[in-house]
Amino acid sequence: MKPWPNAPPWWQRTTVYQIYPRSFYDSNGDGIGDLPGIVDKLDYLRDLGVETLWLCPFYKSPQRDVGYDISDYYDVDPAYGTRDDARRLLDEAHRRGMRVILDMVLNHTSDQHPWFVQSRERRDNPRRDFYIWRKGRKPGGGAPPNNWRSLVGQRGWHYDPRTDEWYFASFLPFQPDLNYRNPAVVQAMLDMVRHWLAQGFDGLRLDVFHALFKDADFRDNPLSPRLLPSEDNPDGFLQSFAHTLHHPETLVFARKLRKVVDEFDNPPRFLVGEVFGSPELLRRYCEEGDGLHTVFLFKSLRTEFSVSAFRALIREFEHEFPPPLVPTYVFGNHDRPRRGERLDYHLGREKLLTTLQCTTRGLPFIYYGEEIGMANLDLDPRKAIDPLAHLYRFVPTRLSRYLRKRGILLNRDEARTPMQWTDGENAGFTAPQATPWLPLHPQYKQVNVQAALSDPDSLLHCYRRILHLRASEPALSSGSLTLHSERKLPKAVLGYRRADGDRWFDVLCNFSAEEQPINVPGERPSVLFSTCAEPGPVHGRHYLLRPYEAIVAQVLTDSRLSPSPSSSGILRRETTSPS
Ligand code: GLC
Repeated sequence: MKPWPNAPPWWQRTTVYQIYPRSFYDSNGDGIGDLPGIVDKLDYLRDLGVETLWLCPFYKSPQRDVGYDISDYYDVDPAYGTRDDARRLLDEAHRRGMRVILDMVLNHTSDQHPWFVQSRERRDNPRRDFYIWRKGRKPGGGAPPNNWRSLVGQRGWHYDPRTDEWYFASFLPFQPDLNYRNPAVVQAMLDMVRHWLAQGFDGLRLDVFHALFKDADFRDNPLSPRLLPSEDNPDGFLQSFAHTLHHPETLVFARKLRKVVDEFDNPPRFLVGEVFGSPELLRRYCEEGDGLHTVFLFKSLRTEFSVSAFRALIREFEHEFPPPLVPTYVFGNHDRPRRGERLDYHLGREKLLTTLQCTTRGLPFIYYGEEIGMANLDLDPRKAIDPLAHLYRFVPTRLSRYLRKRGILLNRDEARTPMQWTDGENAGFTAPQATPWLPLHPQYKQVNVQAALSDPDSLLHCYRRILHLRASEPALSSGSLTLHSERKLPKAVLGYRRADGDRWFDVLCNFSAEEQPINVPGERPSVLFSTCAEPGPVHGRHYLLRPYEAIVAQVLTDSRLSPSPSSSGILRRETTSPS
């Protein structure tokens, strides 16, 4: 795969903001966020500086998995608005220079989708083969066709007495998997993708993409000693998902999908896959340049807050996703605990990770509310709307809190509470007299957009400043990245250089609660950004990084020393390590 001949395409340098429509802003006072509500907040998002919006599913759905169970891919759920609202949202975002990508659930439908309703009627129904039906190993629902488990640990097969057969669901029982070995399914789904792209949407986030194809011979999955899946390894529940995930034909399908997406080239569209596995394995989805554009690398979600852990992460992402591949930096989403949880909601740490997220080479994915430091809300799983919470409701609260701290969220409602806009009634999310679909986090009185806007030292302003700097300096988005040698920096400081032509920038992050003296490279160092409201003074080249401070310094190349874009030279010469 060759590097891009000219400027990299938009999706290689963009910044993505994830909107969970139900929780963003309610325009009609029914307690549920909606598409017109997102339109109302587009100026806020433009001013924040995010360039691409990812909308979680708004299609027609019984909402049993809050939209990830689609019953009509062509329509908008009335809770969120109309097709015209979707078009208006797209136009208004485009008018403000932002792009919009849709969440696309290709793997499964709702069990209320007319295809499944027909499919389960009779074995000879023409839609039967749209889903994965098999005879059990014993009649009458006595034993499923094989040992395949779902991604959430239960048995993946569900018995339907009407036809005495079992259907397969990678996720929950009401989300039956489509049969991608049926060409009619492939055709129908690709046509649907064309429909949305033809409307002008800029790309797709592909839900559980690695699950699309399963073993054609329905062989049992091998046993595994692993109990819980992780970002790096989706095996778990004592089973290896060898025959149900990452099937070679899924990679073939990625290319087929890419061809469809490339039919729309003005502007080019973008595909990002939700896939779980090691970065090395995930690279296969995009490495030839003719599959997905990129995939989520969820490892960042659980990386410990330390120099060594982030250094190793960046090194791994750079190694596995070298240019022109583009890694992703994700710190939270609608399935995972909010970022602040593992940082003890420490403002300095949140700002440091914000800087890192927006200045490493890759795409930052920012989950709504992350920019104001929204927190998880403790909720009773028995009252949960999230169906997963009911599945795991037997887990003791202390254990689920412990898991949450470690990046696993058993009740996803806790990270999906309504956006906190103001300190007024219902946090300005919905009408004062309305009941929001999920309770508001009581911290909204202090943590809200209005308060953050009026505090120059807020996390929100940190986001705004770093996003604007990134947008104005191609080196920070698509330039090369070189890690500074750890030997040349204080132990608590992580440093890397971003370079594009003669524009070079050093990012230096102090992971400790102590001040760290450093030398800023270049003859005339210029600190362009600091996580503190103002950068500190530079004496000569000396700079004192304050606790948890991260800075971006421009490396001026007109120096006689003419620093090399590879970091080691300049730092060896100019940085004295006090540690
Ligand atoms: C993905 C979504 C999640 C959803 C699941 C089933 O993991 O992110 O929210 O429940 O797929 O579609």
